[in-house]
Amino acid sequence: MKTVVIPTGKPYEVLIGRGLIGRAGQEIARVHAPCRVCVVSDSRVSALYFFSLEAALKAAGFESRLFTFPEGEASKTLQTFGEAEAFLFASGLTRSDLVVTLGGGVAGDLGGFAAACYQRGIPFVQIPTSLLCAVDASVGGKTAVDLPGGKNMVGAFHQPILVLCDTAAFSTLDEKRWADGAAESVKHGLIRDTALFERMSSPLWREDVDSTVEMNLEVKKSFVCGDETDRGKRQLLNFGHTVGHAVESLSGFSLSHGQAVAIGMAAEMRAARRMGMSAAGENDVIPVLRSLGLPTECPFGYREVVEAALGDKKRAGNTITFAVLDRIGQARLEKTDLDTFAEYVRLGVE
Ligand code: GLY
Repeated sequence: MKTVVIPTGKPYEVLIGRGLIGRAGQEIARVHAPCRVCVVSDSRVSALYFFSLEAALKAAGFESRLFTFPEGEASKTLQTFGEAEAFLFASGLTRSDLVVTLGGGVAGDLGGFAAACYQRGIPFVQIPTSLLCAVDASVGGKTAVDLPGGKNMVGAFHQPILVLCDTAAFSTLDEKRWADGAAESVKHGLIRDTALFERMSSPLWREDVDSTVEMNLEVKKSFVCGDETDRGKRQLLNFGHTVGHAVESLSGFSLSHGQAVAIGMAAEMRAARRMGMSAAGENDVIPVLRSLGLPTECPFGYREVVEAALGDKKRAGNTITFAVLDRIGQARLEKTDLDTFAEYVRLGVE
């Protein structure tokens, strides 16, 4: 088993290994006294793993109940959030009790936000069961739900007290979900770690997925540490997401997050090169993304992408800040006015 410590205001561990769901009770008992637990999970993942999680929690003295919602981004709404809060209240949870999120990014973001708001904040544990959630969303404390047309528009920073990444759960991921996690891994390699970027072209990334997750979390940790609330260097993690979030929203979420980020990375690299902002060419990256089963061509016109991107949180008044690569393995932030940004998107998408 591997352990990565995330040194936020209140540091917490991420454990990475096979079989952690079956040991969840004893691991959670190291950081929280036995209590009432509400597990937040979608219909697919809860059918696969809630039974073992419940038994593991019970063996360590935790009493659990399940809040479940239909699988998919369409559930990440204020309505489901309200239902989750009502469930916590009806279950009699108090501030000494726990939320445990079990699943991918939707369960983590929704359940984490429910924990952040319930009685002004109760602790929560993340159990990511997808590669995408393990390498990104489960760590760093971003929790949120979407508004119509606006991803993650309502949320809070609320760090988990523990993350249990059971890599045996990846065995039930389909190829599209593996590719979603691969897209974020490529991003982490591009902005900070050339060895991780190169690893994504070798079978090793999947054969030894525990090490791949660990490498990703070392990158993520380096950006979250010192900028928990996303005011500075953490924004470098948004590489590929300026265009990516826009195309994800424009597609009505028929493009998955990883697919949208892959399109976003290719477009943003092309744009930065054509604008003279970056010497890093997209031609070294597009074949890697394609070999991982990810799309790289934007299916939307630049005007609609600009409009969607300007509705995102990355805009501050009449400026927008986005990440560009100096070279593979190193990124910096660029802040531009909105006209320059529109030209940047046009050059990336056309
Ligand atoms: N997913 C980007 C971040 O956590 O900042």
